[in-house]
Amino acid sequence: MVRLGINIDHVATLRQARGGREPEPIAAAVEAELAGADLITCHVREDRRHINDRDLRLLREVIQTELNQEMAVTEEMIALALEIRPDHACLVPEKREELTTEGGLDVTADVSRIKAAAQKLKMAGARVFTFIDPEETQVLASARCGVDGVELHTGRFAEVFGKDEEDAELERLASAAETASRAGLEVHAGHGLNYRNTPLLLESVPQIVEVNIGHSIISRAIFVGVGHAVGEMRSICDMFRGE
Ligand code: PXP
Repeated sequence: MVRLGINIDHVATLRQARGGREPEPIAAAVEAELAGADLITCHVREDRRHINDRDLRLLREVIQTELNQEMAVTEEMIALALEIRPDHACLVPEKREELTTEGGLDVTADVSRIKAAAQKLKMAGARVFTFIDPEETQVLASARCGVDGVELHTGRFAEVFGKDEEDAELERLASAAETASRAGLEVHAGHGLNYRNTPLLLESVPQIVEVNIGHSIISRAIFVGVGHAVGEMRSICDMFRGE
């Protein structure tokens, strides 16, 4: 069955709207775990616009599954990860002005820096992944960095889902996943995934063993609660084996 990571950044975004203590991301994480999440994902951004250092420390202490820290490849974030010791470190690009992570990390442009970061993180016990656009060059550059796997950016797939470009984007993802698998890399996917497009993705790209999903699940949770919303996605993930 495909592993399900729940991204709780959006709970923190709601909290930051008032600058107080509610809702607590850690509470959402515990609910998500009880409903079958395999890991809790969060992104401490340079500007701390949603998840902050306190959240990360609490998560590390309280959650009983695995912690996936999405992080920019900066000295500050590497130092934080070395202190927190997440189970997964997912290296992402970060632009201050973007609403959310817009594109994949350009690994080809920065192999030596990313390789050095991956080495440090691995020595601290993390499994390391690069969040990349589904392109062969990025997959192969990731392999050169010695990471454990790649998280394929599914934002474009989510955008064209149900449109003419859907097949072409699925082919791009399938081909990148194939290349990654052949290079011995684990394949994850994330960004823009929801209850409607995830089944098609998992059916079309059987190499995917883990998805990281935030916005659609937290949005649904407003109406049905976190446990129910996670449980529904859990059922979808359970329908696919993940090779
Ligand atoms: N994976 C990565 C690397 C991300 O940056 C994000 C967005 O924070 C997600 C997964 C989850 O995306 P979404 O919130 O669209 O489900």
